[in-house]
Amino acid sequence: MTQATSIWLAGCQPNVPASALLTDREATWNTDVLVVGAGITGLLVALSLAESGVDVTVIDAGSFGDNTSTHSTVKITAAHGTTLARVARSTGPDAAVRYGAANAAGLQRLRETISRFDISCDLIDDVHFVYTTREEGRDDLLETARLSSLAGIPAIAGGTLPIPVDAVAVLRHEGQALVQPAALLDGLTAACAALGVWFAPGLSARTVESLGSSLRVGVSDGSFIAAGHIVQASHMPFLNCGGAFMRLVPSRAFALAGPLPAGARAGSTYTPDDPTRSTRVVQWEGHPWLVAVGEHQIVGRGGSSRALADSLARWASDVFGVTDVGFTWAAQDLHSGDHLPMVGQVGSDPRVLMATGFGGWGYSNAAAAAEVLHSLVTGSDPGPLAADWDPRRTGLPQALPGVVATGAEVTGHFVGDRLRSLAGSKEPNLEPGQASVRREGRRTVARYRDHSGDLHEVDAACTHMGCLVRWNDQDVSWDCPCHGSRFSISGDVLDGPAHTPLGRISS
Ligand SMILES: Cc1cc2nc3c(=O)[nH]c(=O)nc-3n(C[C@H](O)[C@H](O)[C@H](O)COP(=O)(O)OP(=O)(O)OC[C@H]3O[C@@H](n4cnc5c(N)ncnc54)[C@H](O)[C@@H]3O)c2cc1C
Ligand code: FES
Repeated sequence: MTQATSIWLAGCQPNVPASALLTDREATWNTDVLVVGAGITGLLVALSLAESGVDVTVIDAGSFGDNTSTHSTVKITAAHGTTLARVARSTGPDAAVRYGAANAAGLQRLRETISRFDISCDLIDDVHFVYTTREEGRDDLLETARLSSLAGIPAIAGGTLPIPVDAVAVLRHEGQALVQPAALLDGLTAACAALGVWFAPGLSARTVESLGSSLRVGVSDGSFIAAGHIVQASHMPFLNCGGAFMRLVPSRAFALAGPLPAGARAGSTYTPDDPTRSTRVVQWEGHPWLVAVGEHQIVGRGGSSRALADSLARWASDVFGVTDVGFTWAAQDLHSGDHLPMVGQVGSDPRVLMATGFGGWGYSNAAAAAEVLHSLVTGSDPGPLAADWDPRRTGLPQALPGVVATGAEVTGHFVGDRLRSLAGSKEPNLEPGQASVRREGRRTVARYRDHSGDLHEVDAACTHMGCLVRWNDQDVSWDCPCHGSRFSISGDVLDGPAHTPLGRISS
């Protein structure tokens, strides 16, 4: 029986120690730094600041630990597929080498943190392979090998893949790592709590205003938190400030895990070919299981999400003989136009910071981002990486044709959906499992009939900026094609930047 959940959360649920829970909060809570989001980024930022004696509070909108970080493949590598070659093309070889070196240091820092706080999270050494099956992918691999060496990341071009795939070029990185992410997040939370960090799960940040020497952050229970700095570690920034959400492409990836047949060859691999494929092995209930990820889709765009998840499942079956899939899930990455993260000051106020845009490689990037943010908060020199990764850097929106295309498509989807929904006249009878988006009078209604026959109706206008949502048949959700917000069939927010549910329709 396949469970629609991440294998990592099935094995462990991150928790906040009771002594660190911010329960009976005063009307206005004061903190030096408010970290918004308790994924890998927020926890590493909080820990690094708390270790320097800074007073930190972490809030998280969701149920604790249910985030991108626990829906990841969690291969902690430093070279990130062919990202170095891509950064060299967009920003230059020096920025690419700095990116690689920062991630190599981030990987090392994660190892030291796990060891220093004695975090039990199945950390193991790993060899990671990047490959291409296409002749036209060879140059990027060779350029990545060259830049990796300059960045101090051991890279060997050539050799044999640990999986039964014929590659035209292979790159082997020794000294990488694997962890169980839910256990890592749990351990980082405990380490933060021991250093005096306060946690408020189930609380989301909504607004930020400047009140003289401090920031006043409005939160979802109607109260306020006063902070010296705020760090948006919410993956998608929740503030419409500096247009950050306009510069990020939200891309959904599909994942599965299942037992490997005896004798099957598998290991940690990634190909940037289209469709991308990423694999690793995990010991699950005493047996080796394959974790496979791939088939990226821009949120709310393209065809059926289920068809993409099915395609990944066929690949796992054909290549590895994995037929008995135990877990399937999906999550989204955020890609910047120049392949570099967006870390630092986001708008005009130097106290409002963020860290996001890690593409498909958030673990070592989060550790590197934590260093930059630590410097920005404490006033020390963050070094040249801070300029490379500055969210306000010039040219970012135009850096990648895909981002420009995304902007254009946003308008296309918006207008196209409105026109198409206006054109319809009669609502067809929805069969169980079917969904529709239709204009009715002044509003557009998104409908889904579940497998029990119950009809779920919500207003189709995304509460972020009004684009019309699209049906996601794999995750059974309403997804916005504009900036990646997602909603449940009853309209609840699953992913931001929206933070208000879709309007309910009372029939
Ligand atoms: C399928 C998949 C596979 C991946 N594989 C790898 C891999 O092998 N190696 C690797 O390094 N990276 C990988 N990544 C990328 C990596 O998982 C992410 O970059 C990383 O987890 C992002 O972490 P984060 O802490 O920034 O965000 P998250 O983990 O999403 O945490 C953000 C938190 O912010 C909270 N939040 C959001 N809005 C608000 C608000 N307004 N107020 C309060 N809280 C809020 C959310 O509830 C959430 O808990 C993968 C990603 C995907 C999708
Ligand atoms: S996410 Fe921006 S309009 Fe929907």
